[in-house]
Amino acid sequence: MDSEMRKIIDGKSIAAQIVSETAKEIEVFSKGSRVPHLAVIISGDDSASRIYVRNKIKTAEKCGIKSELITLPDDIKEIELFRRLNKLNNDINIDGILVQLPLPSHIDPKKAINQISPYKDVDGFHPYNLGRILEGDPLFVPCTPLGIIELIKRYDVDTTGKNVVIIGRSIIVGKPIAMLLADKSENGNATVTICHSKTRDIKKILETADIIVCAVGKAEMLTGDMVKPGVVVIDVGINRVKDVTKKKGYRLVGDVDFESVSKKASLITPVPGGVGPMTVAMLMRNTLKAARLKCKK
Ligand code: GUN
Repeated sequence: MDSEMRKIIDGKSIAAQIVSETAKEIEVFSKGSRVPHLAVIISGDDSASRIYVRNKIKTAEKCGIKSELITLPDDIKEIELFRRLNKLNNDINIDGILVQLPLPSHIDPKKAINQISPYKDVDGFHPYNLGRILEGDPLFVPCTPLGIIELIKRYDVDTTGKNVVIIGRSIIVGKPIAMLLADKSENGNATVTICHSKTRDIKKILETADIIVCAVGKAEMLTGDMVKPGVVVIDVGINRVKDVTKKKGYRLVGDVDFESVSKKASLITPVPGGVGPMTVAMLMRNTLKAARLKCKK
């Protein structure tokens, strides 16, 4: 392995490892109980969402998780979606419920997520689960932050006392990963700064960063001149940029300009093949956790 290769965090192979570990655990679990069961709701025809959902279902199958895809029409009434969610909450055969976002614009995603039982909330988006992260006693952690922590763990990145700069303050990634990394825990104990669109002089803040998590959804916004040598860079972005040389007419890039940042980073996640596959792998873990939780109740 040359030094250039060592610097790239291989999320794809770590995710495959986690999927295979989870499959083994599920095999054991299923003998004493039954196969974990995940319900996935998708509404609307966002093409990226469809790809993500297909991927989640396919991976569930690989793990021995039974899954059910519920496709709802674009114009579904909020009340009807809530009725469906309640039915899944009360269904003892369902362990995990996931509502793929974005929902059609007439439905408030916060209200929809509030309808999911926190004990079946395998996405970890329910306020109860986000509150448990704040408490320092997480139950279900959103899959992307959970995947980032797992990558950091498996690549032996020491976070204690380190300066972490998070770019992006979303409820799905920025805020939970900030809390987890600041937490008094094995993969926490970092000094965390959250930057966002109103941050002044981001370059000055980034000069202090030992670890950067970039989760803003802006193609290649972090460039090599903004980071210090030896930095660890986690790129959460998945952006489509026009590329006429590709069959699909676009290519995927992250929020990080890989070309320039990778020259200075000691470790960096690529896009695709970095954080993305980890998100799906952690969903499998969360689904097994939900099934185990139900057995205890
Ligand atoms: N849309 C984009 N990412 C996600 C995710 O992790 N979960 C859900 N439910 N929707 C998403």
